[in-house]
Amino acid sequence: MSEDTLTARPSGSLAGQVRAPGDKSISHRALILGALAAGKTSISGLLESDDVLRTADACADLGAHVVNHGEGRWTVDGKGGFSEPDEIVDCGNSGTGVRLLMGAAAGFPIAVQFTGDSSLQKRPMGRVLDPLGLMGATWDAENSGKLPLTLKGGRLKFTSYRLPVPSAQVKSALLLAGLNAEGGVEVIEPEATRDHTERMLSAFGATLHIAPEGKGRRIRLDGGAELRGCDVIVPGDPSSAAFPIVAALVTPGSQVRVEGVLLNPLRAGLFETLREMGADLTIENPRTESGEPVGDLVARHGPLKGVEVPAERAPSMIDEYPILAVAAAFATGKTVMNGIGEMRVKESDRIALMATGLQACGVEVSEEPETLTVTGNGSAPRGGARVVTHGDHRIAMAHLVLGLAAQNAVTVDEPGMIATSFPTFRALMAELGAKIEDQGGL
Ligand code: S3P
Repeated sequence: MSEDTLTARPSGSLAGQVRAPGDKSISHRALILGALAAGKTSISGLLESDDVLRTADACADLGAHVVNHGEGRWTVDGKGGFSEPDEIVDCGNSGTGVRLLMGAAAGFPIAVQFTGDSSLQKRPMGRVLDPLGLMGATWDAENSGKLPLTLKGGRLKFTSYRLPVPSAQVKSALLLAGLNAEGGVEVIEPEATRDHTERMLSAFGATLHIAPEGKGRRIRLDGGAELRGCDVIVPGDPSSAAFPIVAALVTPGSQVRVEGVLLNPLRAGLFETLREMGADLTIENPRTESGEPVGDLVARHGPLKGVEVPAERAPSMIDEYPILAVAAAFATGKTVMNGIGEMRVKESDRIALMATGLQACGVEVSEEPETLTVTGNGSAPRGGARVVTHGDHRIAMAHLVLGLAAQNAVTVDEPGMIATSFPTFRALMAELGAKIEDQGGL
């Protein structure tokens, strides 16, 4: 049997209309808040990716009745709190799943064993555990600050915590813990990060006080709220929509429409950057769904120019730098991505892997601890490489998009990991005319 790989070949123009899969961040939160609430939460458009399905299983293990009704429709019957699970909670590859669940579980007098796959076991959990410890939670871990670990919660007290790094996962973990802390919790974030937890907590009946502070926000959550189940419509994921959109922008003759994309300004940094690069990218039918701004995005191929991306924009596009680096490889001039050190602690060290992968495809790239610089000459890169992804879904999808418009095919390893965030990637791209096949390693 040949080694598992996927190969993207130069495909000719891409065309058509597709729907973005459900937003991963909102999908995790809908399940977790549904499990914490009393009564029924009905979710439509849930992203049924490996990461989110792990969170659904975890919510069931923690006491909720979770039912899949098909086609993205799920219900969660919450018991108004978590009970101690018999099983180890295995969050697979998902940093969001494990960090939010640890925060939520810390509010209850239960012990929960958490683990994850080999990538998740290398990622920093101290950023969540340390503030949860200040609130009163304790844990046992063999490898300090890493999974696997057993978290013991309950009897939390009010804490005001200033995040040392902008992280929506850490902020969300603390807000979820604060629901059951005496006096609630206060989180001060140095830069505003995605606010889906705050929006959804309000919809489920919690009381939050949010004030701007510097470039960020001060968020105080009152403790003791009784959350009530809600209806949640999950909008399309901008982090997934990014792949067909950039594919259209860099593949000559293409025009692609991606419908129902979440346009929350705290997630839309990539689209702003692409427009600054001169991309022909328009929003149609702007609307509000479940309290979030949504629109249809139309992307047409055209020339792109290099830009300097300010560090302040990083939280609003932290998962999109791999695909931005691909767009930059087709642009004329230098694209400098500043202040992106957090990329090094994602599913892989994404700065290092993008630099290696793009260089192997003939692109001029340089990396510094917090910066990635890509220099394009306005034409298609050579391609023709086999890229090591370290099991990182976004590294794989970014290089496959490059392969569609490069001079030669690009192959990626561990393509199965794409299912952690975008299980329908291959089918959706094929609908647009992309040639992505599973044999033919280079
Ligand atoms: C997420 C927050 C981000 C992002 C991740 C999803 C979330 O992580 O990279 O894919 O849903 O809160 P950080 O909060 O660690 O930046």
